[in-house]
Order: sequence, then structure tokens, then C-alpha cells
Amino acid sequence: MLGKHALPAALLGAITLRLLFPPHARAQPSSPFAPASPEASAIAQLFLITLGIAGVIFLLVQGLLLYMVARFRARPGAGAPRPVFGYRPLEIGWTVGPALLLAGVFGLMLPLMGSDPGAADRVPSPPAEALAVTVIGHQWWWELRYPTLDVVTANELHIPVGEPVRVRLESADVIHSFWLPRLGGKLDVIPGRTNQLWLYTEAPGVYLGPCAEFCGLQHAWMLLRVIAQPRADFLAWAAQQRQPAAPPSGAAQRGQQLFLEQTCVNCHTLRGTPAQGTVGPDLTHVGSRQTLGAGVLENTPANMYRWLQDPQAVKPGSLMPTFYLSDADTAALAAYLAGLK
Ligand code: CUA
Repeated sequence: MLGKHALPAALLGAITLRLLFPPHARAQPSSPFAPASPEASAIAQLFLITLGIAGVIFLLVQGLLLYMVARFRARPGAGAPRPVFGYRPLEIGWTVGPALLLAGVFGLMLPLMGSDPGAADRVPSPPAEALAVTVIGHQWWWELRYPTLDVVTANELHIPVGEPVRVRLESADVIHSFWLPRLGGKLDVIPGRTNQLWLYTEAPGVYLGPCAEFCGLQHAWMLLRVIAQPRADFLAWAAQQRQPAAPPSGAAQRGQQLFLEQTCVNCHTLRGTPAQGTVGPDLTHVGSRQTLGAGVLENTPANMYRWLQDPQAVKPGSLMPTFYLSDADTAALAAYLAGLK
């Protein structure tokens, strides 16, 4: 019996380990095993401690099980085993043991919990006037507002390194969840309520955050990118984002005309033009972003064309309808939007 299951069990174990600790995990922009903030380090550490405790228990239980199976297996001629009821030391032992163990894990976890996790000692003294960002979850993209910098953008959250950033989480529709595995814990994004957390990292780079609460058809394509950069670069980015859209030239002029004639303006804001819609992402500098459709396509001119030609084929169910524009009109619109750096 044992031999029959040994191979599948070994395979299952190997696959589980592989999934938990893929060899490339540390290179992944979203692996919680490559923490890039004090909070994420503390979470990863707690996970490894818990995994270690669970591993010891697993080996102990499985070892005992194998021993029992071998030691007490049915032998020819042996009678029925003698049942044992109510052996008190054992009953007390396996009630108190796990209770103490769970209490211990709870004790390790407590310092990580707090209602304002960053305000604990892990973020070095967040100043009262820390940079504030409002992150608003939409089906299926993230609206990002920097009230003090007068910047509104989408899906790419630029932050300065080495400074705590106060993030306010709001939702425009359903429950989403904000999670940057390399920067800290998860927090739900709930309609009608504002949740807050601190973002902090000392390592410049790009950190990916998947929406972590199922929120509808395109939940998987609701990707947040955090771009952590030195303060000077961050301020230069903010200054550039604050500018209204540059007036178009060449083929892009026709594109702007189309943008203002079609229903684009009902949903999108494009500062520097009359477009002031607030349903979809602010497009004032859409050409400067890395992706389209909250991560679904790399932002290249060819993909901008593909997206405008048939957004419902690229991201089915998204609120961006397919307009069936002619190829020439699609190309003009794509040239205009791709040029909005
Ligand atoms: Cu938003 Cu899942």
C-alpha cells in the first residue's frame, strides 16, 4: 500500500515546494519572498517561522502515522485490536498542545496587526505632512490622485523612495483589495469607506500589485504598478503629469478632433481639452504609462491601435465599449493618445 502512494506523494510534495518557492521568485516583481519594505520583511519572516512550525508538526504527524501503520498493521492470526477510550493524558495533551501553539503564533502575529500598520515602528517616523495619495478601485483599474501635487493618473503609482506615503483607499463600485506583496500587507478597498495604509520602500524599482479580491470578470487584469524612484525623479514626474496635454500636430490633430466628437469625453478627462468625464481613467498623459487596460497590454503604438479598435476583444466586459471606428480613424486616435506623453 505504501509503495503505491509513495510516488504520487513525493510528486505532490515536489510540486507544492516548487509553487511555494519557485527558483525565479526573487526576480519576480510581485513575490512576497523578495520583500522590499520593513513591513513586507516582517510578514515574510512570520510566514517562514509559521511554515517551519507547521513543517515540524507535519513531519511529526506523518512520521507517527507511518510508524503506526507499520507497527500495528494486521497480521495473520492476530485478533481484533483492543480499543482504547478516554485516555486522559492524551486527551489533555492534544487539546492543550495545539492551543498553546496557536496562542504562540498569535503572539508572534500581534505586533504585525495594528489598525494603522505603518504607524507602528516599521515605517521610520511618518511625518504629519507625508505625501498623500488617494487610490480608488474601479472595475477594473486603479484611479490615483495626489491631492497636494494636483496630479491624477491611473494604474501606475509613482512614489519617492525612503519616504512613507500615506495611501487612502476608496472604491467607486465593488470591493477590491490593495496588495503589493513586496511592500506589505493586503487591505480591502470598500465602497463607502476609506481605509488607510502606509507605503514605504528604500529600494527603487517597479512593484506589481494584483487586485486581491474577486471583483468581476476582469479581476485578473486590475494590476497596479508601483514605481518607486528617487525624490528628484518623482518630483520631475509629478511636474510633467501636472501639465495639461500638449496640443497635437500632424495625424494626431485628426485624432484629437475624433476624441472630442466621439463619446470619449463622456467618460474620460483630458486636461487641456473640454473632456472632463470621470468614469474612465484620466488620459492627459496616457502615452507616458507602461501598460494599457490596467496591465493587459504593453503600451506601444500598435497596442494602442489594437485597444481602440476592439477593447472588448482585449478586455471583455470592461466599461470601454467597441466603437467600430474605421481603420483610418482608429489610427488617428491611436496616434493622438500614444503621443500624450
Ligand atoms: Cu478589483 Cu479584483
